[in-house]
Amino acid sequence: MKPTVSLLIAAALAVSASVSLAQHAAPAAPAPAAPAPAKPDSAAGGARYAAVCAACHGPDGNSAVPANPKLAQQHPEYIVKQLQEFKAGKRVSPVMQGFAATLSEADMKNIAYWAASQKAKPGFAKDKELVTLGERIYRGGIADRQVAACSGCHSPNGAGVPSQYPRLSGQHADYIAAQLVSFRDGVRKNSVQMNQVAARMNDREIKAVADYIAGLR
Ligand code: HEC
Ligand code: HEC
Repeated sequence: MKPTVSLLIAAALAVSASVSLAQHAAPAAPAPAAPAPAKPDSAAGGARYAAVCAACHGPDGNSAVPANPKLAQQHPEYIVKQLQEFKAGKRVSPVMQGFAATLSEADMKNIAYWAASQKAKPGFAKDKELVTLGERIYRGGIADRQVAACSGCHSPNGAGVPSQYPRLSGQHADYIAAQLVSFRDGVRKNSVQMNQVAARMNDREIKAVADYIAGLR
């Protein structure tokens, strides 16, 4: 018994000595509570993306299919949040829940950082009549129904705010409109803020703002 105990004590002393040495060596860095998360591996993310996701979201993240969102230049934190929530069933999509289920946390980060590094291709508004209404809503909201201006959170040019508000500019109008209807009807429940924004919008206003966003740059 005795030699083992003294060995353990010696080991414990050695650990505490190296801890205090480390603290002396780098006084500015707080001792990490858990091992630091690995840095995202964008190359690995790109490879995984090419194999699985590119078929629907486009080889460079600029999906050509209006129902499939563009992912290029989207903020990585937002992409990771969506993938986590698809996987957990917090955001419902028969298509995406299956794909997200196969991804680890590291895969999600790697893919998100790769997608964020891709350049988004601009889109175009298509509906001349509705686009003026769309611009009015995007920039000023709908005052008499307390719908906040989209630009207040998603920024005037639709670039969003990293880690807080997703990028919208250039996104497919069909996808944007589908998400707004989904937020409004409580099908997409992963953002209280967006549920409140969409709750008071009618179909025409949704169509108009979605068309405006598609051409926003
Ligand atoms: C079969 C086509 C398909 C494949 C393959 C696919 N997706 Fe999707 N993805 C979709 C569709 C459709 C949606 C929109 C879901 C909805 O209606 O909410 C979507 C939505 C997303 C979103 C949410 C984007 C946003 O703006 O909120 C992310 C992130 C995403 N996909 C990432 C991926 C990744 C990563 C892969 C590969 C592992 C992948 N997708 C594979 C079709 C696909
Ligand atoms: C108070 C801040 C706020 C305002 C105002 C706001 N949004 Fe959002 N929006 C958010 C947040 C936060 C998210 C991310 C939700 C999530 O994490 O899933 C979001 C997400 C979205 C999405 C989903 C994007 C995607 O890729 O799936 C769309 C579409 C959207 N907003 C459109 C709008 C429009 C149109 C308006 C104006 C009518 C608007 N938002 C106003 C905060 C806001």
